Amino acid sequence: MAPAAADLPATPGEAGSVAARLLDWYDAQHRELPWRVAPAALKSGARPDPYRVWLSEVMLQQTTVETVKPYFQKFVDKWPDVLSLAAADTEEVMKAWAGLGYYSRARNLKKCADLVASLPGSGFPDSEAGLRELPGIGAYTAAAIAAIAFDRPAAVMDGNVERVMARLFAIRVPLPEAKPEIRRLLEKLVPGQRPGDFAQAMMDLGATICTPRRPRCMLCPLRSDCLALVEGDPELLPIKAPKADKPLRRGAAFVAQRDDGSVLLRTRPERGLLGGMSEVPTTGWTARFDGETTEKAAPFPANWRRAGQISHVFTHFSLELEVFLAKVSGGPVPDGHRWSPASTLHGEALPTVMKKVIETAIPGATRAPRPGDKA
Ligand code: ADE
Repeated sequence: MAPAAADLPATPGEAGSVAARLLDWYDAQHRELPWRVAPAALKSGARPDPYRVWLSEVMLQQTTVETVKPYFQKFVDKWPDVLSLAAADTEEVMKAWAGLGYYSRARNLKKCADLVASLPGSGFPDSEAGLRELPGIGAYTAAAIAAIAFDRPAAVMDGNVERVMARLFAIRVPLPEAKPEIRRLLEKLVPGQRPGDFAQAMMDLGATICTPRRPRCMLCPLRSDCLALVEGDPELLPIKAPKADKPLRRGAAFVAQRDDGSVLLRTRPERGLLGGMSEVPTTGWTARFDGETTEKAAPFPANWRRAGQISHVFTHFSLELEVFLAKVSGGPVPDGHRWSPASTLHGEALPTVMKKVIETAIPGATRAPRPGDKA
């Protein structure tokens, strides 16, 4: 039976001992990540490269570690430091980002690189406040960079950390309402020594032990501190306020393919959803049920055939697109459009939703050629 509230410790152990237990665990069990400097190397005097920390943290906003890894590698191979990224073409950066989603991050990444490159010494600011001034760096990212790159005692609070904290302190107020309380408690736990490792240890604990479902409490370095474990229900925390259902929008997308295999594309406006990315012509995406989803909405007359349907989930809505394909043999290029050659289509700045559309119409068209593929 769960103990009565009065029997419970008011805090999960001494803040210092919680941090010490977590850091010992991190020394032995940390994840090897391409942007991370391992604790042993830090202890031998290695310093994290703020450029790599910044790049990884921007990529990790709303994206999983496994998805980010190959993108991070591609970026540091192409642009090993902030000066090379500042010297890069924005279009090239957008292309390298294609598929990671939330494309305003890529535009802000470039703006931020340009700004940092223009600072004296071309170095990133080393405080949370200084980092907050930069494009694309919000409260979370500023805290993460300050802690990881500059060992500042910042409270770094992402979804993983919120879950660990909600369980550690058995916080039953639903998220997001509980956030200020979680932040207040986290600030008390952040140690003066190794705050960067502490931040990463919290993230690793949330990702590998204190998981949303079936947490591995037996392996947890904080099990003797965890109030939710005492109360018997860590898996039920954190409590989350119900999310509003996403509206469904519909539309039609038109893949025109020329005899030589090239595909008709246009570039979306700089501002707004998928800004600056490439797309095939589409109708508007509307929640109205009388929206146009047939070949009648095609940008020009051709032998349009239905190729299928795709769905894609954005932050604020779900989208269903009817996909049409037409083989065309020339004719004038509609205003603002261009023919993208088959051999370089994979290098276009195509967001995932557009890759789905083109793949539905022309399977394999957006895939990079692999050694051994037929020419
Ligand atoms: N998620 C966000 N930032 C991270 C980091 N630095 N390491 C692991 N997971 C993360």
